[in-house]
Amino acid sequence: MKHKLVVIILSVVCCPLSALHAQTPVYLDPSKDIEARVEDALKRMTLAEKIDVIHAQSKFSSAGVKRLGMPDFWTDDGPHGVRPDVLWDEWEQAGQTNDSCVAFPALTCLAATWNPDAAKAYGHALGEEALYRGKGMILGPGVNIYRTPLGGRNFEYMGEDPYLTSQIVVPYVQGLQSCGVASCVKHYCLNNDEEYRHQVNVIISDRALHEIYLPGFEAAVKEGKAWGVMGAYNLYKDEHNCHNQYTLNKILKHDWGFDGVLVSDWGGAHDLDQAVKNGLDMEFGTWTDGLTMGATNAYDNYFLSKQYQKAILEGKYTTKELDEKVRRVLRLFFRTTMNKQRPYGFLCSESHYEVAQRVAAEGIVLLQNEGNVLPIKPQGKKILVVGENAIKMMTVGGGSSSLKAQHEISPLQGLQMRLGAPIDYARGYVGDVSGNYNGVSTGQDLKDDRSPEVLIAEAVEKAKTADYVIIFGGLNKSDYQDCEGHDRKTMDLPYNQDKLITAIAAVNKNTIYVNISGNAVSMPWRKQVPAIVQGWFLGSEAGIGLADVLLGKINPSGHLPFTWYENLGQVGAHSFGEAAFPGIWREGKKVIDEEYKEGIYVGYRWTDKHKLKPTFAFGHGLSYTTFKVSNLKALGTVTADGNMTFMVDVTNTGSIEGSDVVQLYITDVKSSVDRPAKELKAFQKVTLKPGETKSVTLKTDKRALSFWDEASENWKAEPGDFIAQAGDASDRLTCKAKFTLK
Ligand code: BGC
Repeated sequence: MKHKLVVIILSVVCCPLSALHAQTPVYLDPSKDIEARVEDALKRMTLAEKIDVIHAQSKFSSAGVKRLGMPDFWTDDGPHGVRPDVLWDEWEQAGQTNDSCVAFPALTCLAATWNPDAAKAYGHALGEEALYRGKGMILGPGVNIYRTPLGGRNFEYMGEDPYLTSQIVVPYVQGLQSCGVASCVKHYCLNNDEEYRHQVNVIISDRALHEIYLPGFEAAVKEGKAWGVMGAYNLYKDEHNCHNQYTLNKILKHDWGFDGVLVSDWGGAHDLDQAVKNGLDMEFGTWTDGLTMGATNAYDNYFLSKQYQKAILEGKYTTKELDEKVRRVLRLFFRTTMNKQRPYGFLCSESHYEVAQRVAAEGIVLLQNEGNVLPIKPQGKKILVVGENAIKMMTVGGGSSSLKAQHEISPLQGLQMRLGAPIDYARGYVGDVSGNYNGVSTGQDLKDDRSPEVLIAEAVEKAKTADYVIIFGGLNKSDYQDCEGHDRKTMDLPYNQDKLITAIAAVNKNTIYVNISGNAVSMPWRKQVPAIVQGWFLGSEAGIGLADVLLGKINPSGHLPFTWYENLGQVGAHSFGEAAFPGIWREGKKVIDEEYKEGIYVGYRWTDKHKLKPTFAFGHGLSYTTFKVSNLKALGTVTADGNMTFMVDVTNTGSIEGSDVVQLYITDVKSSVDRPAKELKAFQKVTLKPGETKSVTLKTDKRALSFWDEASENWKAEPGDFIAQAGDASDRLTCKAKFTLK
């Protein structure tokens, strides 16, 4: 007996390594193809385990398969930093001490850099933060189109242009996913306003859908290879976008070949049969009845939970749809939590702050600079800073993108840090003094009971003797002022700011207005204020980014990712009455029909068509130097696959180094359908020394010449002449070249 035991032990010890490997289940073997691992894991799972992985078990997590060694799956917002952990079943933050993060600039700022490399660095830094915090998926980025400046969540998106959005979203997704953290591109699709986001049924032409509202998502999926997409709350063709036959089954999964998970927006699922059949893979945020309120810990009551399991057991559904959902979830596991090659995570590392600072500075847009008031020459000069936004923390608030930042440098602090001296300050106006979101508090006491008149009088008095006055105003992520859940009510600046700015500009000729927002605001005083800067919501390093630009340490190079309309009368969405925005309630139903009557004419496409002059055009952005874009050449002819190459010269005609964004717009000279006067189809950011000229190569593909043909349901490029124009703003195109598609 003893003898036999020894033999057995020896045979185990001496067993060749290959034999040991042979015992490793396929699903755990990283050398195996991911699809083989998925099929192997799927075979091993029970019905209950399959049901468990396709719905939430807490506010932000879903179950793994513990029996098979697959950990629970944790998601988190997104998109500008990793949101603090919340309680298991409540939105209130959990009060942990290890979840303070770096707040990166909001995505409007990222888009304003016009720099795909910056987007990649942003995604990567965010991915490292997410990894450290144990998150397998970040709920972002957002790529909904800026349809109206009233859109409450525009600050989370990348502007009005489908091409610019596509160029920024792809590297963001790639950077993030290179860390083994999935992106969840949102909100797919047509979620362009907030007020009635659960009830709006969008009515839109196929052309506008494909040419304007889908390309950002399509690029994220096809080029960025996004592992997750979030369905939007609103309806399209009378079905909610979290379970929509047309947008999910047909376009996303069939036409684009998306192999990742479609995650419901929180509380966006409404119906069992549609949830089973119409493309939803993971259900989050639902309460008992498909609304966002109901019983606590109601996870078993989700559509894709016990009721689905029961329906399968009763034979109402086969496991066909279930297995398809689980395959996608398993693929997600193998790409993220089950991926042993994932790098290490870091939280609040210096490199992340560097990215936050670089993107902040690079996205700031110098809108106007009469008499070269900027950059400030501080030597021996008296500077006055005015406005609540000079001191208010902006990383707390705004909805689900709210953060608990390890630090946030305010504009006033940034200026003081860079100048090494205190700066005189006047409040000027009182806006939102709350500073609290889901239990995260800024800790700031901004209370000030003085009347608007007293506040303005104090600022004006001080402004009279200052050499420079910098007013930091704008919006602030409180309700109706760039915030999830509500749209703005007007384009006007709130809290008497127009009066304040006008009064200060009247007594000080060196007035600089810095607008903090994710949206355009109306500026009736624009001609009285020499310098205007768009300062976005800039995150942790806001004050440093702004100070560096205002003091000229960094030469501004941001360009607008949207048209800065003079007023709502210039906006396509507001030109057709209520039916086009915010929509009209359907009689007796909980649905609002909103018809995008402006069609493909969004942003500059609309102002071009109607020959309107906005305050600042799409793509506009000044520098402390000047540039000349000239000599555009179309090289050869369009190739058989529709590719075309252009060359254009950019010269720095000023006296300091700076970066310009060369933009290429294409016009179809003659077309069988109505087409925009021009459309952005290529761009590049170039850095030039004084006097230097660089030749820039810009490439376009067949899609750049095409429109969405509703008859054939496909892209169509019609043979004939095209004109390309290049310049550094959509209203400053200084050279052109003709070319022909044979
Ligand atoms: C928002 C999403 C967010 C989710 C989770 C929803 O209300 O629309 O963007 O990711 O909540 O916080």
